[in-house]
Amino acid sequence: MLLSIKDTFEDMSREAAKLIADRIHRKPSLVLGLATGSTPLGLYKELIRMHKEEGLSFAKVTTFNLDEYIGLPRTHPQSYYYFMWENFFKHIDIDRRYIYVPNGMATDIEGHCEWYENEIKRLDGIDVQVLGIGANGHIAFNEPGSSLGSRTRIKTLTEQTVKDNARFFKSTEEVPKTAITMGIGTIMEAKEIILLANSTSKARAIKEAVEGPIMAMVPASIIQMHRKAYVIVDKAAASALTHQFNG
Ligand code: F6R
Repeated sequence: MLLSIKDTFEDMSREAAKLIADRIHRKPSLVLGLATGSTPLGLYKELIRMHKEEGLSFAKVTTFNLDEYIGLPRTHPQSYYYFMWENFFKHIDIDRRYIYVPNGMATDIEGHCEWYENEIKRLDGIDVQVLGIGANGHIAFNEPGSSLGSRTRIKTLTEQTVKDNARFFKSTEEVPKTAITMGIGTIMEAKEIILLANSTSKARAIKEAVEGPIMAMVPASIIQMHRKAYVIVDKAAASALTHQFNG
């Protein structure tokens, strides 16, 4: 695991973008795993800039998103598909056919999860997976207690997550209670992982993930077992670490 502590959110985002751009240059048909949320927004902004100003092309890149709410159509402003389209995809030259986001409106959700896993396999796996981390150590919608070997499946959101997400909806009742998420086992099969975190609200989760014991109660701690994981954080998110060294 390589830990990189940057001064600011912008520095963190630039470092992650540079890494991804390098991988696209080496392999234009890169298979890229993506996350939603506020953490990767700076990364997407920087990749968009690189596309517009430096000619970085996503034309042959395939993307797989980590998760999606069940019951929200792609046109719903709170769906993760909509989020990705607005914040990233519509600004770059990606081919729509190469975009994968779990379909929360699928009639056979379990069959859809199996299909999603098979599509990842068909494309020879994810080359680089981008992750954020929840304040409770979750990755994707794998909340504390999730099996460390889990695959893409339906998950019921914790009460806390429903409450946290309520600010984006008119009422708590409107917040979807279930989601499709890649499993921890699925994520761990990515050839490289970039975990991003910023702000003091993530300091405890980063400490537990990076320096704590590996356990299902802190899903992100499994990253310690990955052979090529980059943990890129800002100073605030690194503030609780005992070993604050880069490398
Ligand atoms: C989103 C996802 C989540 C977020 C996490 C952090 O696709 O998988 O696990 O990465 O909840 O969210 P933010 O970045 O909003 O703090």
